[in-house]
Amino acid sequence: MQSALIGTIAVPGDKSISHRSIMFGAISNGETVINNFLESADCLTTMNAFRQLGVKIETVDNQVHVHGKGIDHLVAPSEPLNMGNSGTTTRLISGILASRPFETTLVGDASLSKRPMQRIIEPLTQMGAHFQSTDGHLPLTITGGQLTGIDYHMPIASAQVKSAIILAALSANQPTTIVEDTKSRDHTEAMLAQFSPQSITVHGNQIIIQPHHPLVGQTINVPGDISSAAFFLVAAAIIPESNITITNVGINPTRTGILSVLKRAGANINLTNQSQTGELSADISITATPLKPFTITAAEIPGLVDEVPLLALLAARANGISRITGAQELRLKESDRIKAITTEFKKLGIAIEELPDGFVIDGREPWHVVDPHLDSYHDHRIAMTLKIAALLVKTPVTINDEECINISYPTFNTDLAKLRS
Ligand code: S3P
Repeated sequence: MQSALIGTIAVPGDKSISHRSIMFGAISNGETVINNFLESADCLTTMNAFRQLGVKIETVDNQVHVHGKGIDHLVAPSEPLNMGNSGTTTRLISGILASRPFETTLVGDASLSKRPMQRIIEPLTQMGAHFQSTDGHLPLTITGGQLTGIDYHMPIASAQVKSAIILAALSANQPTTIVEDTKSRDHTEAMLAQFSPQSITVHGNQIIIQPHHPLVGQTINVPGDISSAAFFLVAAAIIPESNITITNVGINPTRTGILSVLKRAGANINLTNQSQTGELSADISITATPLKPFTITAAEIPGLVDEVPLLALLAARANGISRITGAQELRLKESDRIKAITTEFKKLGIAIEELPDGFVIDGREPWHVVDPHLDSYHDHRIAMTLKIAALLVKTPVTINDEECINISYPTFNTDLAKLRS
């Protein structure tokens, strides 16, 4: 039941940056020390995979230490690598394995095994790697070897695909150029510039990778994950009288689309204490205000791709009709998030219409629970969005398979409880 969210919390470390810090640490020379690493199921998948590739990784006093010996010291794993539910691990590790002179098989859970891998198979095959898959899906067997640099124009906005190419390009025989129409999150570029400044130049939407420069172990301070903070930012925006602060949230401009939309909807947001001990971070405060409807189109999607389910919830509380389009990539995430949100929101009586690439939502319609049995589709972001939506209805609802929240945010329930006490 609805009660204002009040107080200050810190959310756990950024998932995208945590994955990448293990990977760059593993292929560098020397020790990489990671502060505020996200210990969620997906990031532990990355950690375990690199241990199986022969890298020593240990956690001491809340810090992760990766003892890298360079990419040439990765060894063939003795069994298939289990990617669990993690698309980021699968696609990025494929870029690293593309140049390794051995065979690796990647397997995953039912959801991951349905997700498209052709998007990485295609450019990495152009570079010279060999793949065996069932119709572009896991299980995927990669046989790496000598790679050639390519000029690649990204057919879709995907940081995972871009990152796979960047990681492969580090071992190619000539430079690689990648061009994006719309810039996706750039954590890989930022981290590569830290581990090996000579390896990368970025001019606007063009990235050039120079191969065979040394990568040297670093200290990485992972900021809080804006995609985790987003659950409480939206909750505080829609639950009257809320007033919260989330400290040390990563505000890389390629990730802050959620903040722009919240502002457009009339939310009262303030950023303070900006700091840059790793990527740029700030404390974000928000208080509840009446909300206006909004429109989101394709160009804005890469900057808020993981927050679209939550923005649909924001729209369901805004005073008018909101439209979200250009979000067809959502059908290819841990679940078909367009279908999942439409189906589950209808159970709460929300006036939502499904589009091929998004939704139309009328936030003026009162909600009334039609069916209290909600489905998470085993998708962490759907489960957490529904948990926030459930705060706004009087009828008790159930959400099945709620423990999938551990994929990205194991302490979600504790943090929510802190803001409600
Ligand atoms: C991610 C990129 C995005 C995002 C995912 C994490 C990353 O996926 O949805 O949660 O860390 O590179 P796509 O590359 O498929 O857009």
